Amino acid sequence: MSGAFIVFEGADGAGKSTLCERISEELRGRGKDAVLTAEPTHEGIGAFIRSGSAGEISQRTEALLFVADRNDHTEWIQEQVSQGKIVLCDRYFASTVAYQSARLDGDASEMDWLIRINDEFIDIPDAIILLDIDPEVGMGRVGTRGEEISKFERLDFQKQVRSNYLYLAEQYGFDVVDASMTRDEVFKKAMEIIEAVIQ
Ligand code: TYD
Repeated sequence: MSGAFIVFEGADGAGKSTLCERISEELRGRGKDAVLTAEPTHEGIGAFIRSGSAGEISQRTEALLFVADRNDHTEWIQEQVSQGKIVLCDRYFASTVAYQSARLDGDASEMDWLIRINDEFIDIPDAIILLDIDPEVGMGRVGTRGEEISKFERLDFQKQVRSNYLYLAEQYGFDVVDASMTRDEVFKKAMEIIEAVIQ
């Protein structure tokens, strides 16, 4: 069985994590060897980023940390895919470009820089599924999850993230799925995309 590398992207509240879990269960139910993973990872540099121990670092340094975490993660992903597994990854390089360029005020040259620093350390996914949602709707969902509103979850910021994602989707041919549809419809669309790339 040959493996595959599928990435899920989207602004906060798009329903990405729930979708990833449902897809992983569905694939396993069909006898496929699916593994679910996420960035930032929960190990090494990823755990360091999540812990907040880096303190007051510059936006560029933060971007470099996300890429460093991705470098180790990519090696692990490649190993899994070479063993015939279907890797489902919740966020990958487009998160750094969409989020960190929003933090850097979306300046075009910064976006170019963010793409360049990722370039050498990533693997090209077989599919990148972008869950697109109006931030007002997405933010409503974040609110209902009852989680702490992080600095990443403010409305204007999320609007910028969304427009960055849509720009990247057009440039790099991501599969855009309208995440305002019902969860079942979003799941069905995502499965169609995945079925087209797995055997
Ligand atoms: P996480 O707890 O995984 O949230 P989510 O369920 O929304 O994926 O936290 C990830 C946060 O980190 C999310 O708000 C996006 C941000 N992020 C970046 O800013 N740059 C990156 O490169 C990545 C991978 C994540």
